[in-house]
Amino acid sequence: MHVSKLKTYNFRNLADQTVQLAPGAVYITGLNGNGKTNLVEALYILTGSRSFRTSANAELLKWGSRESSVFGTVVHKTGADEIGISFSPGERTGYKNGAKVESVADLMGVCSVVAFSPTDLTLVKGSPSHRRKFLDRHMVDVQPNYLNTLMAYQRALASKAALLKESGISVAELRPWNELLTEYGGKIVENRVKFLISLADKAKGFHAEFAQTDGELKLTLESDLVNKEGEVSLDHIAAGFERVASREIALRSTAYGPHRDDVAITLQGSDCRAFASQGQTRSVVLSLKLGVIDLLEERLQESPTIVLDDVDSELDAGRSDRLFGALLRKGRQTIVTGTSTPPQQLVGDSSLQIIRVENGSVYS
Ligand SMILES: Nc1ncnc2c1ncn2[C@@H]1O[C@H](COP(=O)(O)OP(=O)(O)OP(=O)(O)O)[C@@H](O)[C@H]1O
Ligand SMILES: [Mg+2]
Repeated sequence: MHVSKLKTYNFRNLADQTVQLAPGAVYITGLNGNGKTNLVEALYILTGSRSFRTSANAELLKWGSRESSVFGTVVHKTGADEIGISFSPGERTGYKNGAKVESVADLMGVCSVVAFSPTDLTLVKGSPSHRRKFLDRHMVDVQPNYLNTLMAYQRALASKAALLKESGISVAELRPWNELLTEYGGKIVENRVKFLISLADKAKGFHAEFAQTDGELKLTLESDLVNKEGEVSLDHIAAGFERVASREIALRSTAYGPHRDDVAITLQGSDCRAFASQGQTRSVVLSLKLGVIDLLEERLQESPTIVLDDVDSELDAGRSDRLFGALLRKGRQTIVTGTSTPPQQLVGDSSLQIIRVENGSVYS
């Protein structure tokens, strides 16, 4: 798939404008602080996920404005969709082909984007929530039903958390919620385990290309919901909820469930979350993302749009060569930002589109 048109209104420093995008390689250039990242961030918003830079809508609104929107045309093999999101500090409304959708979540899966950005090191070094979100977001791309399960789990979890805030509640009162959480939690973990097995296999291959000397990359789901045999059994999960119930009541917060899962990432057996160097972390992040791109392509029979924000400043020549080599092998829409001239690997591409961003305005 590719995004052929992007229309922004009151989005950060960007002018209200429509930008046409080529289906292959696109290089966005401009001096620091002129709006390159803002432009790719606007595109990323079309996925229905939160921005890769912030989870606060308010930051995306042009200063002094109360409302903003991003619309785009997403071209698939089977036809095109016009989608858009308008938002104010507390609200987001999604649109598809001229009609409002019930929830922005309904847009998920229409436009899939895999972004590489300087904040990505958190995928390895940040809190477990970064790794859960990464998994969940791309699992939704390949199996939209998964989102329903996640949302059903979140709703039940919120109700249980609210109940736990009350005083004098009993274990019996938690049970109806725990039954629901067992059912949805079991599905979530089962899906995560499967997805991660495929992803680990792909990522290991890419990692060997990037950083063979760092040793073998392994990814495994760390979840209390998986039993000793590495299986997901509802009995085990139900027993887990029962075991922590009185502790949860004492703590007044939840202590068990897939919202506490993590992904263990190891190189040669050593835990990357704690021990990987900057360079090692970067190679792992790239491998994970390239792995996700491959999986999406296998399952969707379509490529996601790739965004590389400022990666040149992040990568040494060898890694940058291998990254572009891996990405440009197939005709994917690949949008790259930088402050000077396009990376060497893009220069030979006769269909390369160059866009200049100056003070929020785009010149093709
Ligand atoms: N909500 C907002 N309203 C108006 N302007 C904003 C808003 N948020 C950020 N900006 C401005 O947008 C500019 C930053 O844009 P952006 O991060 O896209 O720059 P960039 O071209 O990617 O720069 P760099 O090369 O340094 O990465 C800054 O000048 C910043 O002040
Ligand atoms: Mg930038």
